Amino acid sequence: MTEPSIQNPIILVERDHKVMVSRWRALTDALDQSADRAHVRDAIRGLIACAREHFRNEEWAMRQTSYADYLNHKMDHSRLLKEADDMLRNFDDAFGQADWSALSAYYRHWMSRHNERHDKALHAHVRKIKADATQE
Ligand SMILES: [Fe+2]
Ligand SMILES: [Fe+2]
Repeated sequence: MTEPSIQNPIILVERDHKVMVSRWRALTDALDQSADRAHVRDAIRGLIACAREHFRNEEWAMRQTSYADYLNHKMDHSRLLKEADDMLRNFDDAFGQADWSALSAYYRHWMSRHNERHDKALHAHVRKIKADATQE
């Protein structure tokens, strides 16, 4: 497996989260504004590709910093990717345009639940490492 391009786990996690949020916003905006179906599909694909790379990076950062909750966090990443892949596979057949606002609500929930349950604690962990390093 290739190493992430940014070798500092703290900078990597912080940068990645900004990228993820902008991808996720692009998707929820496309859904909220009822953009055309191809555009929405591309936005879902873009979010999944970004999430896949981000999760790999975040898992690398957790291993580099001996993060205690690594396995649980990693398991939640796998679950998120499976859910998002299933959603994309069924997007054309299962979701009419009338359902898009519900889909947008779902993706908000998809990202915020993981953030609440896992990423907030990881952020606190990397911030503590950063603070400890500057005190030395
Ligand atoms: Fe995460
Ligand atoms: Fe994350």
